[in-house]
Amino acid sequence: MAASLHLGLISGTSADGIDAALVRFEPRLEVIGAITTPYPDALRARLIALATANAAIALDDYGTLDVAVGACFADAALALLRKTGVDAREVAAIGSHGQTVRHRPKGEHPFTLQIGDPSVIAERTRITTVADFRRADVAAGGQGAPLLPALHAALFAGEATRVVLNLGGIANITLLRPGRDVLGFDTGPANCLLDAWALRHQGTVRDEGGAWARGGHVDRDLLASLSSDTYFAATPPKSTGREHFNLDWLDARLSARTTPQDVQATLLALTTESVAGAIRTAAPDAREVFACGGGVHNPVLMDALRERVAPARLENTAALGLDPDYVEAAGFAWLARARLAGEPGNLPGVTGARGPRVLGAIYPAPF
Ligand SMILES: Nc1ncnc2c1ncn2[C@@H]1O[C@H](COP(=O)(O)OP(=O)(O)O)[C@@H](O)[C@H]1O
Ligand SMILES: [Mg+2]
Repeated sequence: MAASLHLGLISGTSADGIDAALVRFEPRLEVIGAITTPYPDALRARLIALATANAAIALDDYGTLDVAVGACFADAALALLRKTGVDAREVAAIGSHGQTVRHRPKGEHPFTLQIGDPSVIAERTRITTVADFRRADVAAGGQGAPLLPALHAALFAGEATRVVLNLGGIANITLLRPGRDVLGFDTGPANCLLDAWALRHQGTVRDEGGAWARGGHVDRDLLASLSSDTYFAATPPKSTGREHFNLDWLDARLSARTTPQDVQATLLALTTESVAGAIRTAAPDAREVFACGGGVHNPVLMDALRERVAPARLENTAALGLDPDYVEAAGFAWLARARLAGEPGNLPGVTGARGPRVLGAIYPAPF
């Protein structure tokens, strides 16, 4: 049986679930099946708590968590094979991003840490697994993020300047400009603060459809205070995560006079203002913005963004033939394929690395 497919796995900063996409590359990239498998509630809560600020963990707990997350990733891959009726032998490799638990690309010993033991994935799926995609870039002086701009450039470049906008826990943009280098960076929070605030005040894992934010009013003073964080004005390369944008960060800037619902509306405005501002600064000539990631399911967020990026048009990547929920998962299938071919996966102009690097380590399938 010829192994002509690749399978990508990722859980992003939202830790809402593991996205799995089965990808065919010939004659052109096509997602032939996809599935999202939620983490068990307790595991998700642990991961989110761990990813925030300076949470500590005992070494034994770290070891077991790494294996438990790896088992969830393996289950997600197996569920996708079952759903699509594809045999493991048809899959050349899995590309597993893992779960980021800490991202500190600056400092004396910069690092980024993804867990989800790839040996467990290879053993349980019997598919060669590529993982640890970010650290080679960090070792080469880069941010290790974002990694998807290379895929966006390969798939989505057009005749005019385009922006690809990923609305995950964090928002990142890729600027595709004809005849010029690809640019890309994290603009700041997309959903992570909206999720955390909804959980604290509504007891829900997210503000479904943005309904709660819709009923609130933007507090301009709070928005100005949040927007004054130096991350937003910093020049790329730059990347961020929950270590920085979390409820402690928000609490330190809140005053008692803003109601919880108005805070939610203001957080949504923070996302739209920071994304639109980044696009205006980096690509003032952009005419089209293609969104992907879970944020496309929040119509309040999308409507506000549409207004803020005008006259550029806002659509989602389905208009370019790729399901917005699985662009990232497809990207890690693509990076696994690049790894096996010995090709670089990063764009040094995006991450700030010293040069192109082959990304990821290979964990062979059992015989
Ligand atoms: N129906 C929805 N209403 C509101 N927000 C949504 C909805 N669906 C997804 N989201 C948001 O998208 C997030 C997940 O997006 P995703 O692209 O998976 O992010 P990540 O890559 O960080 O995991 C959720 O945490 C949630 O905030
Ligand atoms: Mg997700």
